Amino acid sequence: MNSIRKHVFVCVNERDGNNPKGCCASKKSLEVMTQLKKAVKEHGIKDIRVNKSGCLGCCENGISCVIYPDGIWYTIPNEQKAILEISESIVKEEIANDYLMYKKKV
Ligand code: FES
Repeated sequence: MNSIRKHVFVCVNERDGNNPKGCCASKKSLEVMTQLKKAVKEHGIKDIRVNKSGCLGCCENGISCVIYPDGIWYTIPNEQKAILEISESIVKEEIANDYLMYKKKV
């Protein structure tokens, strides 16, 4: 039986430096993913899994991250403050509004 309730996917896709699309790997997304994974582990959370992913199709907004099944998309700046806030939001199962990739229109 699968006891994982949530998956946090962080794009670590790498492209050639000449590719106009750019890529999340060039923004050090693997480091960011590792820090999020560490935060979840340090809190003893076993039913939320942080994984690497391939391109999530929104390269210009990267570092791209999506949480399923919630459908929350983040743009994660490779800055300690942002990584900390997003880590906390994952652990507390809240939304880090400042980093939402797609803001709701009101
Ligand atoms: S390279 Fe990360 S979303 Fe496309």
